[in-house]
Amino acid sequence: MKDLNFYYNKALKKGFALGAFNFNNMEVLQGILSASDSLASPCILAVSEGAMSYMGEFLPAFVEVVKKHKGVFVHLDHGKSFEVCKKAVLLGFDSVMIDGSALSFEENVKLTKKVVDFAHKRGVLVEGELGQLKGIEEDVTSSEHHFTDPIKAKEFVEKTGVDTLAIAIGTSHGAYKYKGRQELRFDILEEIEKLLPDFPLVLHGASTVEKRLVERINTSGGEMKEAVGIPEELLRRAIKEHNIVKINTDTDLRLAMTCGVRENLKQNSKEIDPRKYIGSGRELVEKVVKNKIENMLFSKGQI
Ligand code: G3H
Ligand code: 13P
Ligand code: ZN
Repeated sequence: MKDLNFYYNKALKKGFALGAFNFNNMEVLQGILSASDSLASPCILAVSEGAMSYMGEFLPAFVEVVKKHKGVFVHLDHGKSFEVCKKAVLLGFDSVMIDGSALSFEENVKLTKKVVDFAHKRGVLVEGELGQLKGIEEDVTSSEHHFTDPIKAKEFVEKTGVDTLAIAIGTSHGAYKYKGRQELRFDILEEIEKLLPDFPLVLHGASTVEKRLVERINTSGGEMKEAVGIPEELLRRAIKEHNIVKINTDTDLRLAMTCGVRENLKQNSKEIDPRKYIGSGRELVEKVVKNKIENMLFSKGQI
């Protein structure tokens, strides 16, 4: 069976990216899987520490389901300790992220290397992170971006042996990403690529926060007035012209699920069957993922 590394290398060569979609319940998982299956697109199912504890004893069962799908991989998102990475490796995850981005450079290298040594022996890939995204990350609130230093990025990759690197070039987590100009630091990305040629890079905080979805949420009882995301055009450029091979998306799926559920309940005030209103959320999750695969990630047909 082709492993995740195969797809990262293919993505680098062909100018597409794998969507890494967060899930923490069955319906979001179903929406993502049916989108990627129907479009024969490789994709990554991302599980955060919070999602792990939310799913509880069902987590291994979800992992088993994902493993039955060709070209789909399970990944630990923002693992903060060696212990949680070890747990994910032993549960059969294909890949883990150790997020030491809030630590000093030396501490980040030390922790990441420890995870790499453990995971690689078991055939599991490791993503590291250098630089910090604006907003809340690692329980540290940062009002400013701490962009990735290209020279440090090269040193980090060489010292740790990570398979992929998450970088900070202006994306951020959540639904409120910009107050002013919506831009990304392509100059920093280019510097990183010069020092780390053909190395697979990752963008976190890459939701586009589609305006139409936000409007629909707001007209069905939500309040998300200032929500704004990364322009799709910038992400397309990062994927097509640069070495970004993994695009992390959680917020856009939260918006889709919320919109589907809100609209259904607003239109059907007598509805009490969760399959109906959560089902509407699931449909919208599938639609959003399909749209990304076809129009932004260009991963359709790449399995
Ligand atoms: O980047 C983090 C993801 O959006 C996961 O969020 O920790 O609330 O599950 P969570
Ligand atoms: P968004 O909040 O932009 O969806 O980012 C999700 C993410 O980076 C998960 O690791
Ligand atoms: Zn993230």
